[in-house]
Amino acid sequence: MDKFVIKGGRKLKGEVQISGSKNAALPLLASSLLCDGWNTYHNIPDLVDIKTIKKLLGNLGATIEGGETLRINTGNIKRCEAPYNLVKTMRASVLVLGPLVARMGQARVSLPGGCAIGARPVNLHLKALQDLGAAIELRDGYIEAKASRLKGATIYFDISTVTGTENIMMAAALARGTTVLENAAKEPEVMNLAETLNRMGAKVSGAGTDAIVIEGVDSLHPAEAAVIPDRIETGTYMIAAAITGGDVTIKRCQPGHLDALITKLKEAGVSIEPVQGGLRVIGSKEIRCVDIKTLPYPGFPTDLQAQVMALMAIGKGVSVITETIFENRFMHVGELMRMGAVVKIEGNRAIVRGVRKLKGAPVMATDLRASASLVLAGLAAEGRTDLTRVYHIDRGYQSIEKKLSALGADMARMKD
Ligand code: EPU
Repeated sequence: MDKFVIKGGRKLKGEVQISGSKNAALPLLASSLLCDGWNTYHNIPDLVDIKTIKKLLGNLGATIEGGETLRINTGNIKRCEAPYNLVKTMRASVLVLGPLVARMGQARVSLPGGCAIGARPVNLHLKALQDLGAAIELRDGYIEAKASRLKGATIYFDISTVTGTENIMMAAALARGTTVLENAAKEPEVMNLAETLNRMGAKVSGAGTDAIVIEGVDSLHPAEAAVIPDRIETGTYMIAAAITGGDVTIKRCQPGHLDALITKLKEAGVSIEPVQGGLRVIGSKEIRCVDIKTLPYPGFPTDLQAQVMALMAIGKGVSVITETIFENRFMHVGELMRMGAVVKIEGNRAIVRGVRKLKGAPVMATDLRASASLVLAGLAAEGRTDLTRVYHIDRGYQSIEKKLSALGADMARMKD
């Protein structure tokens, strides 16, 4: 297993290019199941989760070629199953459920269990598929779904769910009649999928608002689409610049997707300026603690909560960080405290009292974004941080040690 060795204290300087979004690429690749022929996707990031979905699609019978530009042909689907061994490594595998039922009339998908950040059930995906007329059974740890042809319906999501909205949008694209998704997720990744489906001949409108209307069509055709820049990777590099008091220009990103973070960082004293094709982030001598509450988009993203906590850990004052999306997303707190952070957890709130300096220590990654927060803490800390279990970070950050080293970080990947 690999680990990262980080020697903290260097100010990051220079320019970094953002890769394609993991959470946009996954549903786009799953949508290839909706039609026969070669679909083409640009700006695919090189990540372990992308390898997992390629494995899953390959296992179903898809032909796949390319890398950053990926071509997929699902004209030859041989089976309709997402097995346990793939779903357990990546919950987003459940994204094949909607497209498989819609196109093949059946799917057998391992039920994702709980994970490091919460219980994360898929009940809303299943209820919505039932509303579209699918028969759903849970057997031997698998979701078994069947429908000869799905029928459009009005679906209200009790909770805004990103992959739930995506799954049902894909299923409804081939349903008979019109589907209305109420309280739909508004995330940019949902919009990226809606645009891609429309390129395939679907009739989706309203994506980006909480009411999405999908007029079902009889068939879809292959198309070419590009993955949006990863807003969470962008945000992570913005915080890296801020936490090291550096000066980093972030290119190939979409600042418009990060309004909540930009507002909070500016409140904390960080300077952020737009530049051609991205933005420039200049850290200040002193970070002011600010309160943060995670919310569905356009609110502050839960996927940046751990990283911003690392920044608040060295801020002046006290920050209250409230996590409203997942019930167990404070796994990084204990590790940050090993580095000298002062944090108290009260229910879904973390109260962070800023300290002048963090100190390097051996720490362990527990999930993807927790790992990113520990890398950031390591960059700011005095001395050496050894971060183990970096396979979590490889799921969602392309070449993070190379990108950070190019900005001047003292960071290396080593065998543990
Ligand atoms: N929920 C239910 N029932 C459902 C679906 C969701 O109760 O059927 C609950 C969840 O347990 C959670 C809330 O609804 O409390 C929102 O979860 P959501 O469904 O939106 O999460 P997701 O679709 O499983 C995606 C991202 C996550 C990101 C969340 C929230 C992908 C592949 N994953 O997950 O990304 O944290 O939305 O924005 O898009 C990550 O990249 O590190 C990551 C975890």
